[in-house]
Amino acid sequence: MAILKIARMGHPVLATPAEQVADPKSPEICRLVKDMVETMIDANGAGLAAPQVHVPLAVVVFQAPEGRADPGLTEAERFDHTAPQTVLINPQIEVLSPEIEGGWEGCLSVPGLRGWVERPAHIRYRGVGLDGETIERVARGFHARVVQHECDHLLGRLYTSRMTDLSRLIFESEVRHFQ
Ligand code: NI
Repeated sequence: MAILKIARMGHPVLATPAEQVADPKSPEICRLVKDMVETMIDANGAGLAAPQVHVPLAVVVFQAPEGRADPGLTEAERFDHTAPQTVLINPQIEVLSPEIEGGWEGCLSVPGLRGWVERPAHIRYRGVGLDGETIERVARGFHARVVQHECDHLLGRLYTSRMTDLSRLIFESEVRHFQ
């Protein structure tokens, strides 16, 4: 396994739509996913998309606690490194309700910054795992936010492009002033 170099905002790979994976069970995809998981953990991230490691394929990994989606929880409580890891290949998202929720987001490709992003609060997502089996889940709260953030990378979008109020693009160390 290897820790991969993470592309930073401005690198064209982050603005390029990802291609679908033809064979999710191939050894190349398996190795990519293992390296992505190692890279995500090393970088202390909640999720990582393949374009962030310079691979323009529709693959994301993330860690989000299920059943702990209460938006009233603090970020520290919601960010749980022991949460189950999920690998999603060729993911799709369906918005389940018009409810919108705001939250602070960070991104390993935009180091040191946080931005307030409003997103659909209730989604269903579907994709394929490394075993080729379909994964389908309904998600809310932090879980829904992480999945949408990672899938945006596959569209060539960073969270900054989802922001409607750029006065809420701030340094990580200053988030406390907004709480
Ligand atoms: Ni990101």
